[in-house]
Amino acid sequence: MKDIYEFYNMDCVEGCRKRLPDNSIDLIVTDPPYGISGHTLHKHYNRNEDFVLDGYIEVSEREYPEFSRNWIKEAERILRPGGSIYIVSGYTNLIHILNALHQTSLREVNHIIWKYNFGVYARKKYISSHYHILYYVKPGGEPTFNTHCRYGAQEKKEESGSLNYEDREDVWIINREYKPGKIKNKNELPTKLLQKIIQYSSNEGDLICDLFLGSFSTAKVALGLNRRATGFEKSKIAFDHHIKEMKKIVPGYLLKDLRIPDATSPLRQGESWSDAEKEALAKRYSELLKIHKMKKKVMPILCKEFDRGYWSIQKALKNMESANAPDSDQSDLFD
Ligand SMILES: C[S@@+](CC[C@H](N)C(=O)[O-])C[C@H]1O[C@@H](n2cnc3c(N)ncnc32)[C@H](O)[C@@H]1O
Repeated sequence: MKDIYEFYNMDCVEGCRKRLPDNSIDLIVTDPPYGISGHTLHKHYNRNEDFVLDGYIEVSEREYPEFSRNWIKEAERILRPGGSIYIVSGYTNLIHILNALHQTSLREVNHIIWKYNFGVYARKKYISSHYHILYYVKPGGEPTFNTHCRYGAQEKKEESGSLNYEDREDVWIINREYKPGKIKNKNELPTKLLQKIIQYSSNEGDLICDLFLGSFSTAKVALGLNRRATGFEKSKIAFDHHIKEMKKIVPGYLLKDLRIPDATSPLRQGESWSDAEKEALAKRYSELLKIHKMKKKVMPILCKEFDRGYWSIQKALKNMESANAPDSDQSDLFD
């Protein structure tokens, strides 16, 4: 692909076969039609139809299993080894998406629950207010997962608890966007949701594909984060409207508002210690203690030099102390 984006007004299976070579895509983020009369979805959400674009193409329940197998097989082919795919699905046809995924080599990483506001109203049962996001990777290569792209490893919430941990839990509470008076697709994904997926699972310059572009929301966020984008939309009405919007997007426009994670956090948190590293730690600890005399002055230096947290260093020193006791001449170093 020569340009930063290329989009096609065509069926995605045919489009993939004609336009996208094997192993050419770094990340797929997509939201297929739900097979639940999506073209009438606005009625359940009690929305003003005047601002919802016509031309949403639905798939019948009968066709759904085969439809899912066909596009997911193409998705597997175009992903690079190690590339990731996120599929947003409602509950009704989830089984067909899962069955289709199980017929590929794609490996499940997470089954994420996305909880949103404005669930589908029901009078005599609970209100459905979540979607499923299936996160899989293609085996055979290194997957991109930028663990500290949004929160540093040591960043804490005010009331304690890790922000990084919380951001990476598999239940996401992200509200839908309320865009009064703006033309929208029947089922637009929020920017915050797409931004999170794209930040964790791709890098600047990567090529991101959405097989069901709808309002081009994935593509817009991809470009906004300086990624490249491609994809397909079968509806001419939706395509013609949103391609014009797409042309107004300034690449990288979202970058300036990204939260900058605390880079002083140790990046190697959670990694096990090699024997060589343990030996280097013991040696350095002993050297620094001779200079600074006090352990509390030595620890921050070790954290920085070894790119580890306080407790990780403390634990490694203690472990070495017990391994070396009682006849080690270094045991007195680990107070
Ligand atoms: C759930 S919507 C996607 C919404 C999109 N993620 C957004 O945020 O606007 C599914 C879209 O797929 C389109 N579609 C249906 N069948 C298709 C096919 N075979 N190939 C490409 N697009 C298709 C529909 O017209 C609809 O716009």
